[in-house]
Amino acid sequence: MKKINIGLFGFGVVGEGIYKVLEEKPQLNATIKRIVIKDSSKTRNAPSALFSTNADDILNDDEINVVLELISDADAAHDIIKKAFNKRKHVVSANKKLIAAHHKELLDLQEQNKVSFLYEASVCGSVPIIRNLEEYFDNDLLNYVSGIVNGTTNYILTKMANENESYQDALKAAQENGFAEVDPTADVEGYDAASKLAIITLHAFGKKIEVQDVIRKGITSLKMEDFKYAKEKDYTIKLIANSKINHQTGEITSTVLPTFVELNKTIALVNNEYNGVLIGSSLSDEQFLYGKGAGRFPTSSAVLSDISALKYDYKYSIRKYENEKKGVFNETGKRRVYIGFESQADDVSSFFEEIEERYQSKNYNHIVGVIDIEKLKQKEIIENTNLSIIAFE
Ligand code: HSE
Repeated sequence: MKKINIGLFGFGVVGEGIYKVLEEKPQLNATIKRIVIKDSSKTRNAPSALFSTNADDILNDDEINVVLELISDADAAHDIIKKAFNKRKHVVSANKKLIAAHHKELLDLQEQNKVSFLYEASVCGSVPIIRNLEEYFDNDLLNYVSGIVNGTTNYILTKMANENESYQDALKAAQENGFAEVDPTADVEGYDAASKLAIITLHAFGKKIEVQDVIRKGITSLKMEDFKYAKEKDYTIKLIANSKINHQTGEITSTVLPTFVELNKTIALVNNEYNGVLIGSSLSDEQFLYGKGAGRFPTSSAVLSDISALKYDYKYSIRKYENEKKGVFNETGKRRVYIGFESQADDVSSFFEEIEERYQSKNYNHIVGVIDIEKLKQKEIIENTNLSIIAFE
């Protein structure tokens, strides 16, 4: 592709970022021809002639050969992308929720329409994880991918653990910095991380997993007492997304859980909006990818990389993908966890198979022990907002 004419959907944190970058770098030979937005009453930092509220102004423009989809509404994005493919336009997207839900369908559509669908910016912002899993680890025997894939929660956890900042203040700062989603529930409840983990899992192991099958707990139940406990034991608390495969059975285990990480471990050094992912492999042992996972320019950098890749007709093929075979979940077995709770009414000791440590006080209690994952998965535990559940690595 010689000249890239872009139709941009969305002019939020990343949309505006990529507009600025392309303005400043004419040597990239990529121009934004039209920007479609939802709300025409907002003041925008770009010439008003570029804007429209009509999607067809992009979709029906034959000169536009690349659609940049940077809106937060996953259903609307799904519609736009399918229409863009239909018009034989290449698509670059950062919409992890949408991609995790319709991954295979969208990859099939790109094949059928002989276009590219690239989405490096959907996972870990500036960190080139998809391209690495797709290309470099193609012939390697990967065993697990594990780490921090959400910048907002890592920012909040860093501020709470290292600066005693309150959850609310830290969340507000993450929103002001443009790290959080429009509705930050997706970040703080771990849905965003679970979507990213589903995308990672397909590129790492060739297995499609459903986001709702990921055993997931966000960070909203964590209390200052939990951070105090972590400090006493030389841990920090991180929201860890982990997918591992059993090569004998093909079973996948995927979790997103607040986790105690020893302070001397690599992942413990990943702070603020940075993301860090460990890639475990039979041949290379363990490798680490690290970088800014959220924010205007880090995410724009991944979008830009995808735009550049279109110049040489790059596309993901997911050579590892095993036909229609889904990842089979095997989240069975035992897990060592800490559960903190304020009221004795929430005492979950009967769920533990083995209790190693029990702390009781007037205001806060915790139990450390071994729990059967079948029990942990039960709604009254995993979805109980009074319980602070923190896994041990
Ligand atoms: N809200 C996301 C995060 C943005 O905080 O990681 C980047 O995907």
